[in-house]
Amino acid sequence: MAARITDLIARKRDGGELSSAEIAAMVAPDVPDYQLSAFLMAVVLRGLSDDETRGLLDAMVASGQRVSWPWPVADKHSTGGVGDSTTLVLAPLLAACGVLVAKMSGRGLGHTGGTLDKLEAIPGMRVSLSLAGMRRQVEQVGVAVCGQTPELAPTDGRLYALRDATGTVYSLPLIAASIMSKKVAAGASRLLLDVKVGEGALLPDPDAARRLAGLMVGLGRDHDIDTRALLSNMSEPLGAAVGDALEVAEAVATLRGHGPADITQLCVHQATVLAGDEAVVRRALDSGAAYERYQRWVAAQGGDPEAPLPQAPLVVEVPAPRSGVVQRCHARSIGEQVMRLGAGRATKEDLVDHAVGVIVHRKRGDRVDAGEPLATVHARGEADPDAVAACFEIDDAPAEREPLLLGDVDA
Ligand code: URA
Repeated sequence: MAARITDLIARKRDGGELSSAEIAAMVAPDVPDYQLSAFLMAVVLRGLSDDETRGLLDAMVASGQRVSWPWPVADKHSTGGVGDSTTLVLAPLLAACGVLVAKMSGRGLGHTGGTLDKLEAIPGMRVSLSLAGMRRQVEQVGVAVCGQTPELAPTDGRLYALRDATGTVYSLPLIAASIMSKKVAAGASRLLLDVKVGEGALLPDPDAARRLAGLMVGLGRDHDIDTRALLSNMSEPLGAAVGDALEVAEAVATLRGHGPADITQLCVHQATVLAGDEAVVRRALDSGAAYERYQRWVAAQGGDPEAPLPQAPLVVEVPAPRSGVVQRCHARSIGEQVMRLGAGRATKEDLVDHAVGVIVHRKRGDRVDAGEPLATVHARGEADPDAVAACFEIDDAPAEREPLLLGDVDA
């Protein structure tokens, strides 16, 4: 006789192991949210073995269809960061290099922003694509980015929303299964995983980030995906903008050649890994081909790339409380402030505010005089400049910028 769902939850709570069939039963569509949430918390506290993680990944993929493409398609996925708008730059950049991109992304999770929420800041942009629509778009435009649908990884969509609202985001096996279910379902043949390290990452500890990277590379290769992983620094926000519409504007600036140096560096590096030739990547960016591809991609998904982005009514500067050198602009605290401004969800039904966010003006190593702006807050209701100022550490000692790219990881 099959175990009851309550027995499966209790076994995981007590540190026991579940079979693949039991994991599939646990995450089946007829299991109510409250039982699934209890299971997710048990996983956060007790972990999953690699076999259980494989079972969860397989159940998540099997909850929908698995796309197969007549051509090689590339994908990249970040484990989640603050100010990480790279997909908006990288996807059209790769397409402009002749590399087809068919990608499933996620929404905001914990203190990190999500690509789907950022894309929806663009007026008219749709992220729910049918399989037929996704196929047509990849064929015609070379790039499609969508979210989980009833056809594609629906169980990831459900778990993802529950995790965000139940304090169950920060779990290595849940992150690995969530990311890889989208990659397997969307039929990637070549995949680059950008595993974030540092306090703004979902798993800040470098050892945990390395284990996550190794596990996901192994899962990808089990599914015949040519998978590589790089570690990148997420101690401070990437770029300057944090918040959906602000990040879209920054991604567009990057595509037009005047974005922040760190976003440009990361996108060029990732595109070179996936396209194979840095000169081709730089030409696609410098010639405007990548920006032109962005415009076609957005239009193909119903968006208007020229329309004004949502703007918050309140724009408030955050003055430096003292003179000195910025030792750190704490990525996680900035992410949490932006979530508090309305960019995050407290319940899974919440709508996010695409207009709110923070622009960071100073990072590690930058000098600042008392009263000069450290950041600008874009708010709808009340802005709390003191809370944003508290995200910065200022001291008299000189400080060096840290490297962005922290190395590759093999399985
Ligand atoms: N990205 C995902 O798709 N899932 C996670 O759990 C974390 C980052």
